Amino acid sequence: MGNFPQGFLWGAATAAHQVEGDNVNSDFWVFENTPGSIFVEPSGDACDQYRLFASDIATLKGLGFNAYRFSIEWARVEPVPGRISKAALYHYREVLEACQANGMTPLVTMHHFTSPRWLMKVGGWEDTQTPQRFAAYVRAVMEELGSMIPYVCTINEANIGVLLRQMGVSLGGDGQAPVGMQLSEKEQAYRAWMQACAQELNAPPEKVKNFLFSASDQAIALVKQAHERAREAIKAARPQAQVGITLALQHIQPQPGGEEPAQRIQQEVYEQFLPAMADDDFTGAQNYTRQRVGPQGPLPNENGVELTQMNYEFYPEALEGVIRMVAKSGKPVIVTENGVATEDDSRRVAFIGRALAGVQRCLDDGLDVRGYMYWSALDNYEWMLGYRPKFGLIGVDRATQQRQVKESARYLGGIARANRLAS
Ligand code: BGC
Repeated sequence: MGNFPQGFLWGAATAAHQVEGDNVNSDFWVFENTPGSIFVEPSGDACDQYRLFASDIATLKGLGFNAYRFSIEWARVEPVPGRISKAALYHYREVLEACQANGMTPLVTMHHFTSPRWLMKVGGWEDTQTPQRFAAYVRAVMEELGSMIPYVCTINEANIGVLLRQMGVSLGGDGQAPVGMQLSEKEQAYRAWMQACAQELNAPPEKVKNFLFSASDQAIALVKQAHERAREAIKAARPQAQVGITLALQHIQPQPGGEEPAQRIQQEVYEQFLPAMADDDFTGAQNYTRQRVGPQGPLPNENGVELTQMNYEFYPEALEGVIRMVAKSGKPVIVTENGVATEDDSRRVAFIGRALAGVQRCLDDGLDVRGYMYWSALDNYEWMLGYRPKFGLIGVDRATQQRQVKESARYLGGIARANRLAS
């Protein structure tokens, strides 16, 4: 597989909470560890990457990659409102130095789902002050570390709340049942858990509005504002930094009669974000599967299709459709996440090969695609589903924290290396 442009970013992605371990000051730590949790298990030590980052980065470099996407954890950098932890910033300086030492271009995400616990006391992602709180944290990071950060993703999957709402899942801190979920008898347990979380957070239940499940119109408007304010803060500290947002995008495929609902979904999950992205330098596209849409809305998977551990249809061609869609905005596209959860690594190899063939067709047609970050570098903590889904190029024995490089890592790293040598 050739023909990728010079300077193409070949990488793998992670997120702080999913790999670092012991992110005890974050809101998710409370959700995971409070009895009655809907998380199947807590994140605990995760992949201990807070300690092992240097060897992980060196391993990726050795495999042939030239980029690494990771996130900085707000809960560590600002453990209490307004107090910036120099120690945490120093840690992330070391992560950036490890990238530099290995010739890996860092793509840094400022918010990947988790927030500091204290944010839940003041209304989380439904509070009108949150965009400026977020921008202040981003400014502190960029003022200290900006000279080492060429690419910034402000907010990971700014549209995830919309997607979850469409899927009928949304979590209210006020103890309301997830919208659309058939909870009937589980509802009481769910409410009790939410109340317990609020108590643990020392917050009124109605204030507990975490990022992942905040999908009210107000929350969506605030996320857009947070992105815009963060972008201003980044540009003020480091004007040459390339800034974008990342969006979770399925390839929407209308079936006969599904054109209108498909257009509505497209508007909600993507187009409504375009004005807030107008001054961005790139679009971060994240894709895992397609969404077929019929006259009544999203259709279930067809019988007999191959499913991933996430119950998504195994459909790597979706990435091409998503790139073609977002490229219409005229901005460069970086694939900030694309991957598959499977125990069978040969299926991951197949997935990557077919996804990259799609990227290549886009490039051949002159679309400006700047990079491909596989999700994920490591088998890691998949939120509510715990450690069961295996997305990683590198396996992790969580008892010993030993890494096992999979064939898929060699496959993708090999393509990266060959193309870098050729270009
Ligand atoms: C998120 C990741 C997640 C991945 C796989 C994306 O929605 O950014 O945090 O692990 O998908 O589900």
